[in-house]
Amino acid sequence: MLRYFLKKLKHFAEWPNHSPKRLANRVANYTSRLKAGEHALGLPSVVMIEISSACQLRCPLCPVGSQTLDRVSQIMPLETFKKIVDELGDYLYHININGMGEPLLNNQIVEMVRYAKSKNVFVDLYTNFEITDKHEIIEGLVDAGLDSILVAIDGATSAVYEEYRIRGNFDRVSDNVRKLVQARKKAGKSKPEINIQFVPMKQNHHQMKEMTQLAHDLGADMLEIKRPFLFWGQKADALKFLPNEEKFNMYEIDGDTISWKGEEKPICGFLWTSSVILPNGSVTPCCFDYEGSATFGNINESSFIEIWNGKKYKAFRRAMKKGWRSIPLCSKSFEGGCPNMFIQPDDWLIPAADWDKKDTTKPDTIPPSSDAASGCKKQ
Ligand SMILES: C[S@@+](CC[C@H](N)C(=O)[O-])C[C@H]1O[C@@H](n2cnc3c(N)ncnc32)[C@H](O)[C@@H]1O
Ligand code: SF4
Ligand code: SF4
Repeated sequence: MLRYFLKKLKHFAEWPNHSPKRLANRVANYTSRLKAGEHALGLPSVVMIEISSACQLRCPLCPVGSQTLDRVSQIMPLETFKKIVDELGDYLYHININGMGEPLLNNQIVEMVRYAKSKNVFVDLYTNFEITDKHEIIEGLVDAGLDSILVAIDGATSAVYEEYRIRGNFDRVSDNVRKLVQARKKAGKSKPEINIQFVPMKQNHHQMKEMTQLAHDLGADMLEIKRPFLFWGQKADALKFLPNEEKFNMYEIDGDTISWKGEEKPICGFLWTSSVILPNGSVTPCCFDYEGSATFGNINESSFIEIWNGKKYKAFRRAMKKGWRSIPLCSKSFEGGCPNMFIQPDDWLIPAADWDKKDTTKPDTIPPSSDAASGCKKQ
């Protein structure tokens, strides 16, 4: 346990944008998290901003891709993004541009990144990188100072990639990664860090070695292996896609019952440290609220601080203290309960320096290098 905390502390010390305000705010966050009261001290130090809930792909294990999401597709206007950064920027360590859609479908993404970087916030972005003919976006992201990008490539060949990333095109994504590597080189920069994410499933997990080769050939910096989870109502797909191998599969499946293997956590810390803002300005507790069902207010109608310690956020924190299973969002949005409420191994990160040194098909977790405490990942 002590080693775990020391590792976390070292990782925190390495964050690139400490300031007295951010540090004091982070301490306030953790104090309220420990107390777990209804009131949150300070402001969040991490926010996830969903700048697009639209997507061009049809990945079967994603509610957007499987078109089971009840929410309408929306694009966040630049003004909303700026409003968030204006109020929170001095306190934020990290903005994760991500959510339930494809962020690169928002044509103002470069201006958004540039604006957040002008406040020295660490900015990263998760994408399918399926954009077409948009050199200016790729070069613009480098120029704007994006810190890190995570490109989802769930297969090392066209056939395997396109079996899950339906409507996707393996050559297009690969080409875009190469263009990004070139753009970064041309600009003489070391950022953004280019990470490739691979979700091992039945159809692709045999390609682990090929994925390392692909990440190497594309010129990426890191390969991240993320184990799959199941949104609510995906029992049938579980049998089709969930890999059987222990190291990739975090679920126990017993007939109709699906449960997590990991030990259960008592409380969700996100409520005192981070928040999520949807394209229409609605504030929700976490990215696991993919339907936007637990909204606490709207950034276009009030200040964030009013929402953060408003009646609805406070009521949610009180409910969390009584037990997360009684909150419908936390117990009923995912098969087996919210993925954040179970202790699981971290994503499995393989830096470029290790690609030819060791057996990358074996889990060997290292702390993320630039992932300052990303949105709905572990904090
Ligand atoms: C909803 S996507 C949005 C960003 C972008 N459209 C993409 O696919 O990268 C956010 C992240 O969730 C991951 N994701 C989606 N469905 C998942 C699942 N069932 N299990 C694990 N990760 C999943 C994606 O790979 C991506 O990294
Ligand atoms: S690309 Fe991302 S948002 Fe789109 S369907 Fe796939 S996982 Fe979902
Ligand atoms: S759904 Fe999960 S991450 Fe979101 S508030 Fe509930 S327990 Fe926390």
